[in-house]
Amino acid sequence: MKSNWEKVKIVENREYMLGALVEPLCSWYEKNKRSMPWREDASPYHVWLSEIMLQQTRIEAAWAYYERFIGRLPDVKALAEVPEEELLKLWEGLGYYNRARNLQKAARLVMERYDGKLPADYDLLLTLPGIGNYTAGAIASIAYGIPAPAVDGNVLRVAMRYLNCEDDIMKMSVRRKMEQAVMDVIPSRCPGEFNQALMELGEVICIPNGRPLCEKCPLQELCEGHKAGREMELPKKAEKRERRVEKKTLLVFRQGDSVGIRKRPDSGLLAGMWEFPALEGHQTLPQMKQWLAEHNLQEVGVKRLKGGRHIFSHVEWNMKGYEIVLPEGQTQDIVSGLLWCGWQELENKYPIPVAFHIFLHQI
Ligand code: ADE
Repeated sequence: MKSNWEKVKIVENREYMLGALVEPLCSWYEKNKRSMPWREDASPYHVWLSEIMLQQTRIEAAWAYYERFIGRLPDVKALAEVPEEELLKLWEGLGYYNRARNLQKAARLVMERYDGKLPADYDLLLTLPGIGNYTAGAIASIAYGIPAPAVDGNVLRVAMRYLNCEDDIMKMSVRRKMEQAVMDVIPSRCPGEFNQALMELGEVICIPNGRPLCEKCPLQELCEGHKAGREMELPKKAEKRERRVEKKTLLVFRQGDSVGIRKRPDSGLLAGMWEFPALEGHQTLPQMKQWLAEHNLQEVGVKRLKGGRHIFSHVEWNMKGYEIVLPEGQTQDIVSGLLWCGWQELENKYPIPVAFHIFLHQI
């Protein structure tokens, strides 16, 4: 009987052997690959942008964002030069706005260092802001045909099931080993196709939620997880820490056709985006009336709005909201930094995070 320690050591030393899947996977992909706008013209810029967007959202949802973004910012130069507010507006709805900021930082470096062309080199790609192993591997392999691994959650799921392996896919060491395993077998004649085939199998057959479609899988006969009947148990993921819940009361100030918004601080969650001001905790209507009286706003209309929840990676906002209608001409500074803006500007100019859209839609 092995001690627990030895068992752990065996798992840590596991070799991931993927050689046998290459051939059936690639022929399956050739026949079944879906059409996507960034696949039609897989330029480095297109692949880069699509991969960053796909880290935020599903393929179907990314499609429209991608087309709009490319329409407005067709190349690295345009991305490097666009005003930040406009960039964030194009990103509005995708979340993780630092990803958009990093895109721009990287675009500026690419202009400075490489004359606007992303480097055809995995290690140089890794030096750019926002480009990690996965994105560098995707750009290198898909756009430049360089054999490099692009291991995302889909690839890890497919591989762990295929190998009937219980390693925790949240561990960086497991991801690194998988990158090595992909590198060991990646076909040099079509590295980008191979990487995308692994991702695609994870998206359409070896799906994350619900039962995978093993009967349609080109790897069914080879898949150790399926043979053992364990496809639903794998992959293993350590539980994440619980999110902190923050209660807030949002104040949606209105005056005529204008709405009051303000800019969030330049660092931290949703940095630099625009928001409705908020009070901490959940305020009752009498508490709100008292707050308004303390701010010399006795004569205003207050209406309760439908609340909402928004989940970020480490925190959850549980939001109540009130619409506060001020008489025309009342211009005192109610909360610092309040900017009155009209609907046009709200829609086209100021980036408002999705967390606040539930309130935006009610006014
Ligand atoms: N998921 C993320 N990037 C992808 C790609 N290039 N092909 C298929 N699925 C993906």
